[in-house]
Amino acid sequence: MDYQRILEEIADEVKPILKNGIVANYIPELAKVPQDKFGMYLLTLDQETYAVGDYDEKFSIQSISKVFMLAMAVGKCKEKVYRRVDVEPSGDPFNSLVQLEYEEGIPRNPFINSGALVVTDMLISNLDDPRGEFLEYVNNLTGQDDIKYNEKVAASEKLHGFKNAAMVNLIKSYGNIHNDIEDVLDLYFDFCSIEMTCHELAKAFRVFANHGKGVIDSHRYLTKSQFKRIAAIMLTCGFYDEAGEFAFRVGLPGKSGVGGGIAAILPNEYSIVVWSPGLNKKGNSYAGMKALELFTSKTASSIF
Ligand code: DON
Repeated sequence: MDYQRILEEIADEVKPILKNGIVANYIPELAKVPQDKFGMYLLTLDQETYAVGDYDEKFSIQSISKVFMLAMAVGKCKEKVYRRVDVEPSGDPFNSLVQLEYEEGIPRNPFINSGALVVTDMLISNLDDPRGEFLEYVNNLTGQDDIKYNEKVAASEKLHGFKNAAMVNLIKSYGNIHNDIEDVLDLYFDFCSIEMTCHELAKAFRVFANHGKGVIDSHRYLTKSQFKRIAAIMLTCGFYDEAGEFAFRVGLPGKSGVGGGIAAILPNEYSIVVWSPGLNKKGNSYAGMKALELFTSKTASSIF
């Protein structure tokens, strides 16, 4: 399969729609990113790499970080994680509060904001230096040591993160946040502010494509069963109230972020990452979804 030609075809095909969608502006620092950026990176388990466009430019990974948070929490706390967050699709926007009251502070899943806030709380309770250890975990997954938080982005979100503040307070009122709410919010904003390139994210997600075992370092980050569960949650909850649409059009487990990135995997085969900052109404990359749909269609590859 001529993957390089396919990626180049896709970059041409999505060019006219890069202007569709809107760059996230509820975090003012993110609104500064030019809308016409587009990058894509494909990494196979046998170390073949294919790339196009702005694949080596850093962007804010935002909610893609929730996969790393969950992986680290499951590695530390095992099955206990799933007593405090459920594993059902929410069918609601990523920052919705409505279900939290009906469901007494148990978030629907770890990939909506409320769920990631509870996971952040667990990491605070179980790590000596959660801020440092999380970054080390992401660096290890990626095989690097220079991945960082963007303090400007975290500070910008903190100034405007009223819904997240409301959520963490509501969850705390049901006893499902154990630490100080300011500590949980600050750490969650830091986790979301990590900057990576398409290439770096593809390296990190290749560990998931390899069922939780590092391809380069051979370290087992997750057991096969832990990985299977996280992949299932990516498929059913990775795109909020558009998870069905992503499974329908693309057919891969994956995760999006409001920075415009999407990381996805075909287990045993490859990781693939796309970045295009214009978002659709559900907060997922407009052209990124289209690019991945074109990729799995042209290569006839999906989990189905
Ligand atoms: O909490 C927030 O709203 C952001 N830090 C992350 C949201 C996000 O990326 C949802 N993505 N589609």
